[in-house]
Amino acid sequence: MSEKTVVNSWNEWDPLKHVIVGKADGTCIPAPEPALDAKVPEDSDMRGQFGPRTKDTVDKANELLDNFSNMLEKRGIKVDRPDPIDFSQKTSTPDWEAETMFGCMPPRDVLLTVGSEILEATMSYRCRWFEYLCYRPLLQKYYNEDPNMRHESAPKPRLTDADYRKDYLSDKIGIQKRLEWTEDKFFVTTEEEPLFDAADVLRFGKDLVVQHGFTTNLKGIDWLKRHFKDHRVHAVNFPGDPYPIHIDATFTPIKEGLIINNPQRRLPKEQRKLFENNGWEIIDSAQPAHNEPPPLCYSSTWLSMNVLVLDPKTVCVEKSEVYQAEQLDKLGMEVIPVELRDAYAFGGGLHCCTADVYREGELKDYFP
Ligand code: ARG
Repeated sequence: MSEKTVVNSWNEWDPLKHVIVGKADGTCIPAPEPALDAKVPEDSDMRGQFGPRTKDTVDKANELLDNFSNMLEKRGIKVDRPDPIDFSQKTSTPDWEAETMFGCMPPRDVLLTVGSEILEATMSYRCRWFEYLCYRPLLQKYYNEDPNMRHESAPKPRLTDADYRKDYLSDKIGIQKRLEWTEDKFFVTTEEEPLFDAADVLRFGKDLVVQHGFTTNLKGIDWLKRHFKDHRVHAVNFPGDPYPIHIDATFTPIKEGLIINNPQRRLPKEQRKLFENNGWEIIDSAQPAHNEPPPLCYSSTWLSMNVLVLDPKTVCVEKSEVYQAEQLDKLGMEVIPVELRDAYAFGGGLHCCTADVYREGELKDYFP
């Protein structure tokens, strides 16, 4: 690796040296649109409202994100922050208009780092179509500094109504029906064009594991296959999740050979083979410490397992998630408690609010 290497990360657990941490500035509750309606839980306090979040909640979330960044820097990890744009403005393309955007708290959703490449995902919501702009100043900088860095962007999708199944445009579907649809792999996104969010992808060296669900369709997975020619790309599904969006509160690699899996969303037997035939252990994660997500939050209580691994012996766990911390401690990890719950509503947990720039280590084949 040359001295100028800025971007390098092949998996979720090698020693982290450089990371992007999101910001809460200006985050909006987006206006209704097809993909979002399917995602916002039916009993959510967010249904029917949109616009900027209150200043006090933004300030609190930023305080936690700043503290997290400072802690990482104290441990010798370089931290970069995005440049928020005005998310309250209306956006449009020739195909659609959206009343507001979303925010830039979860870079994990937008940026996929694979080796020396950072790929901007297509995204699958109209309100998140322009989110990549917040990361462009950083990506330009990495590109200028590192002669081997590859800055890639997946084809921007049109996101017309043809991308979304009308069946999902109701707030009265009910959990039972949703679970059946997930089981049948009948998701809100159609196969009109390739769609994926970066947070549906987990990196295991030569293998990329991608969740097929609301935010990533089969064409998106096929696009990733064609793009990452030297990788094996595997589609996975998790029955039991009524809102299958982003893999990182469902299936979390901790280090080589060990994955924690949400016990309500177990990986089907057939799909476990890849791991188990290669000596990897998939264990049920601990229970969340909370019965409810915080107010105005899109995610479930399973952000408990949305941990950030700093190296194969060290992991950041949200401070109130005592059961998850205890489990990882018993598994021999050093657990660093990080307070983040009051930032959850801005787009997720410790894994979501970060994106890898550099982890030590090379490309390896874990599933030969
Ligand atoms: N769908 C997950 C849950 O609520 C949340 C995942 C959030 N991840 C993210 N990268 N934004 O259980």
